[in-house]
Amino acid sequence: MSHQKNLYNAAMAVMKNAHAPYSNYHVGAAVLADNGQTYVGTNVENAAYPEGWCAETSAIAAMVAAGAKRITEVCVVTRSDPPGTPCGGCRQRLSEFASADTPVHVTNLDGVSHTWRMDELLPGAFKLKD
Ligand code: THU
Repeated sequence: MSHQKNLYNAAMAVMKNAHAPYSNYHVGAAVLADNGQTYVGTNVENAAYPEGWCAETSAIAAMVAAGAKRITEVCVVTRSDPPGTPCGGCRQRLSEFASADTPVHVTNLDGVSHTWRMDELLPGAFKLKD
């Protein structure tokens, strides 16, 4: 079953809390975990630019802090067209907790949406097995 609509609403809501005064690029991320709960995060920038981090990273941190370990679906919302896709570092972080076939929806406020599989975003991911 797809939880895309709920995830989209959660990601859109949290995007409004982005701390992005430097880039003005607001990102909201929502991850559905295998416990049925949704965890959200937004990007958190810093005056010392490299110390900021991404929305996906925030959502993963919230999930792990709550005790969940498996991601079954992801939604990332931005205002850009086409919608922004997770950066390289976030692809690796998502991959730690997702499966090859985990859907990663990228969406904007106009409803433009594309769904990637995790292994399309990060083929040949470096994993625990390695
Ligand atoms: N950003 C994310 O939150 N997720 C991504 O996958 C790409 C980039 C944020 C980081 C920074 O706050 C802003 O977008 C511009 O790069």
